[in-house]
Amino acid sequence: MTSNNIILVGMMATGKSTVGAILAEELGYELVDLDHVIAESEDRSIPEIFAEEGEGYFRRLESETLERMLQGEKRVISTGGGAVLAAGNAELMLANGLVVALTADEEEILARVSENLDRPLLAGNAKERIARIMEERRDAYRFAHCTVDTTGLTAVEVSQHILMHQRG
Ligand code: S3P
Repeated sequence: MTSNNIILVGMMATGKSTVGAILAEELGYELVDLDHVIAESEDRSIPEIFAEEGEGYFRRLESETLERMLQGEKRVISTGGGAVLAAGNAELMLANGLVVALTADEEEILARVSENLDRPLLAGNAKERIARIMEERRDAYRFAHCTVDTTGLTAVEVSQHILMHQRG
């Protein structure tokens, strides 16, 4: 690994954005929330992009934005849960920073997403969809350098685990 970036990957609602903000503050790094960068560049929300352009368009934008953001240094990059899916993105992340996967058990994810309905892939029956997506992505986050199970932990505790990994 040649770069000092930290890249957070993992299922929706595992705390990537919240933990990313704490890490960036703690390290004095730039915070890059990929979904925010995409929404800003498009001047519309993620649900709007999905509804108006479809998932394929969003995924292309996500991969392009990820590649661009990985070119910097001293960044904490929080990715959307599906950013690991496109071919090549995992290798790109591994080559450009410390990749940390956040996990949580299904009940905790369901409890957390119920507070925020801004996730187009969960529209309808969130419980069923989460179960299906978790099954589909069972191995998708295994490529990370390290994994933190966030179940029952606060975002500050998760950040402390990651800083320990980073400092070796
Ligand atoms: C997605 C996760 C979302 C967002 C989009 C698709 C996914 O980000 O990128 O709704 O495919 O898992 P979060 O992981 O921050 O919820």
